[in-house]
Amino acid sequence: MDVLILAGGLSHERDVSIRSGRRVADALRGVGVKADVRDVDSTLVPFLRSLSGTIVWPMLHGASGEDGSLQDILEMCGATYVGTDPRAARVAWSKPVAKTVAHQAGIATPDYVTLPASLFRELGADNVLDAMVDRLGLPLVVKPARGGSALGVTTVTAREDLPRAMVDCFAYDEVALIEKAISGVEVAAAVVGDGDSAYTLPAVEIVTDGNYDYDARYNAGRTEYFTPARLDSDQAKAVSETALLAHRVLALRHLSRIDLILDSSGVPQLIDVNVAPGMTETSLFPQAIEASGRDLADVYKEIVGLAR
Ligand SMILES: Nc1ncnc2c1ncn2[C@@H]1O[C@H](COP(=O)(O)OP(=O)(O)O)[C@@H](O)[C@H]1O
Ligand SMILES: [Mg+2]
Repeated sequence: MDVLILAGGLSHERDVSIRSGRRVADALRGVGVKADVRDVDSTLVPFLRSLSGTIVWPMLHGASGEDGSLQDILEMCGATYVGTDPRAARVAWSKPVAKTVAHQAGIATPDYVTLPASLFRELGADNVLDAMVDRLGLPLVVKPARGGSALGVTTVTAREDLPRAMVDCFAYDEVALIEKAISGVEVAAAVVGDGDSAYTLPAVEIVTDGNYDYDARYNAGRTEYFTPARLDSDQAKAVSETALLAHRVLALRHLSRIDLILDSSGVPQLIDVNVAPGMTETSLFPQAIEASGRDLADVYKEIVGLAR
């Protein structure tokens, strides 16, 4: 079994992707799988078209890696690849679209509005922000409608901090998603498999001082993780069922990570869906594997096997 991991790319999350790719490749090599890591460049398409029998694992984070574009290329080149297909990736990548699909399937997700930068300017920032605060209240979370690694995400507790949060967000995407902030227990549920045979790994609980931002994610020390999450059996069941339902209704394939906040009434609120979850030393997916008592390589091999 040969595996080709695609990592790098030109997004803001290039470094994270490279670290993810290296780590998965090392784990696979450790169990005798021939695994290479390759960046995305002008030689990629002919190379993909020349492959036979190799399983490609796209591990690019951010736009073209997660929005279905790279998956379209893989399909065009006839590659056998790990992960969600282009159309479902496109739906999952857009937070407001994914929230809508999940909500229609009965999954709770924070109330929200979206706002493109152009409309925000045309209507006058203050008018829009006042209406938004009246409708959704405070605190709010302002985030790019499409993005990752918490880049451009701000929790706003005071009205006067909103304009700055909007500007920061528009640096990453033309459309802002502004949603009610949920206070509760943040957990990430890693899902492996497809459809009815998908299963969850133990949820990982995330506790940060302040926001679970880029720095808190990729530099050791600022975040405390509890694996498995400190949930009672009803809460753990609710988290697992919600994650599996999200994975299924969004037609995600082979692996995903579903991020949820368990609110004060014990309802898992869907926050974020990831088709190419981070696999670095501090990432949640590998922590979930470790919490399950299995070897990283064992689960990575299983995922590659699903693609085959
Ligand atoms: N509605 C919300 N309520 C409370 N915290 C939130 C909310 N949305 C996001 N967050 C916090 O911000 C972080 C990043 O937001 P998320 O939507 O997951 O973006 P990304 O795709 O960049 O990971 C989350 O891990 C969580 O800590
Ligand atoms: Mg997230």
